[in-house]
Amino acid sequence: MVWWVMVDRCICYNVPFSEVASLAKSGQSFDAISETTGCCQGCGMCEPYVRVVIATGRVSLPVLTRAQADVIVSQAEAWKQRVGSGSSGGHSNVADHAPHSGAVGLRPAADAQGSSGNGSSRG
Ligand code: FES
Repeated sequence: MVWWVMVDRCICYNVPFSEVASLAKSGQSFDAISETTGCCQGCGMCEPYVRVVIATGRVSLPVLTRAQADVIVSQAEAWKQRVGSGSSGGHSNVADHAPHSGAVGLRPAADAQGSSGNGSSRG
């Protein structure tokens, strides 16, 4: 039996990443989200994950090192800059558009729901 842990919340303050993603989508910054929810103000272990959630819209993440999280955030920000100029909606959720972040096994959020987790992409 193969299984692994997915990270989906700030444990210290029991803040689900779905709430973080919702706040990010409404335009709140990392600092504002942390202030509002308390996430990242306890042990701090969730901070890299929260930054990935804000950057990608993904709400369930594999265990990541800080370096992996930083790469994902950097790639997501670069992607936003490439596609953002043509969008009037100001996409804060690049998961709808971003290619795979295969190095850490992330897939766009739309693919993750109900998927068998084989890493395949739509289209
Ligand atoms: S897990 Fe979020 S502050 Fe500890």
